[in-house]
Amino acid sequence: MRRSLVVGNWKMNMLISDATDWVGSLLGKPPFPETVEVVVAPPFTALAAVEERIRRSCISLAGQNIGPEPEGARTGEISAAMLKDAGCRFVILGHSERRQHFFETDAFISRKIGVALASGLGVIFCVGESLEERESEHTRQVIEHQLSEGLNGLDVRQFEGLVIAYEPVWAIGTGRTATPEQAQHVHRIIRDWARQAFGENSAENVRILYGGSVTPETSGPLTVQPDIDGLLVGGASLKSDSFYDIICSIK
Ligand code: PGA
Repeated sequence: MRRSLVVGNWKMNMLISDATDWVGSLLGKPPFPETVEVVVAPPFTALAAVEERIRRSCISLAGQNIGPEPEGARTGEISAAMLKDAGCRFVILGHSERRQHFFETDAFISRKIGVALASGLGVIFCVGESLEERESEHTRQVIEHQLSEGLNGLDVRQFEGLVIAYEPVWAIGTGRTATPEQAQHVHRIIRDWARQAFGENSAENVRILYGGSVTPETSGPLTVQPDIDGLLVGGASLKSDSFYDIICSIK
């Protein structure tokens, strides 16, 4: 049985005071269903404050990025070991905003995945097609390419450290959520790919999240789908009320 997972990705939002208010408000609500694992990914500057406040709760922490080297002279970068040290269980890698605005290639992302896993950080690895790729019927090809390049060289044991997030680029921050059927179709493609690459057990155990304009209204119908194991939530995670409603709607 795959445990549902909901991840809040705050992106470049929230000052420390906003972050601590958010945690206070979320933890002040009735407990979440135990069947759902909850993770929040604050900006680096708020990690310590959030970590301190969620320490004895059921929420865990993720970072939003790392550099591709384990340590050294890389001014401005944050290493996988630093995120571990700050209390993170996961890091988000391969996000389309990093691919698009910071020109991250599959090969570069693959290096970062290797460094993260070697440091014992779980990786939330994002893949997704653009609108143009979907409309020209290249979705499967694009997703399989991102998977095979990004996860190039991993063995079965390393693959266990991964969560995969399907985030169609046309759905991120646009208010246009994929329908449950559209998302399920691609999640199945991803699980089938994992079966080919890493075997039946790995494919059955890997959690595949959907992300892209998820709201409390769309979250339930999405997670009813057999291959959708949880959600990666951007905009709707910035308000503790809507994030809480999403957690509670998970089927
Ligand atoms: P969104 O972002 O929910 O605001 O579309 C999702 C994401 O980019 O992870």
